[in-house]
Amino acid sequence: MELRKRADEIFARECAKRIDAVHGRGVAYVAEKIAKHAGIDADKAYTFGLLHDVGKEPHSGWGHIMIGYEKMMNEDLPEVARICLTHSFPVKSVLSDMRDEEFYDFVADYIEKVEYDDYDLLVQLADFMACADGVVPIEWRTCDVLLRHQATPNSQAMLRRIYELKQYFAEKCGVSDLYELFDEEFSKVNYHKIPGDYKFEKEGTK
Ligand SMILES: [Fe+2]
Repeated sequence: MELRKRADEIFARECAKRIDAVHGRGVAYVAEKIAKHAGIDADKAYTFGLLHDVGKEPHSGWGHIMIGYEKMMNEDLPEVARICLTHSFPVKSVLSDMRDEEFYDFVADYIEKVEYDDYDLLVQLADFMACADGVVPIEWRTCDVLLRHQATPNSQAMLRRIYELKQYFAEKCGVSDLYELFDEEFSKVNYHKIPGDYKFEKEGTK
């Protein structure tokens, strides 16, 4: 089965009914659109975006990266498994946020050894351009996340890195500002709404 179909089938089974399904589809959409403009494999970008949070479960927290990794290894999709881990670490030092987790050593070793490629970077960026309402600018997504999760000592470094990635992919796409590609999508954002107000109390999104 071709990769994209396989991704849709796994998403339908694992994610489609979850509260963050719109986020997953949004990340896939953003990743695919940028990939098409940047001349990298759009089907891979779509697949990696769609399944990056496949391990999310209520209250899974950091566990979602390991659950996703194991699920995708069991599906014999090691490239997707890799994204399940790398998408959470635009800055490798952000690992310090999860020092208490039982799988810390495994993830720390994995992230230290892996050399990020364009797909890792693309999903890290796209994860900051989609929320439960759909495709949104990084600024909106950042508010959405910060209103639901506490900032960490690494939040600033992470956000700086996301803007570096925005510029990196703008250059690859041949535009001065990556947002030029998303004018239509951003015109649909409801800026009268408080970001994240759909679920201050519920778990299951990121
Ligand atoms: Fe995500």
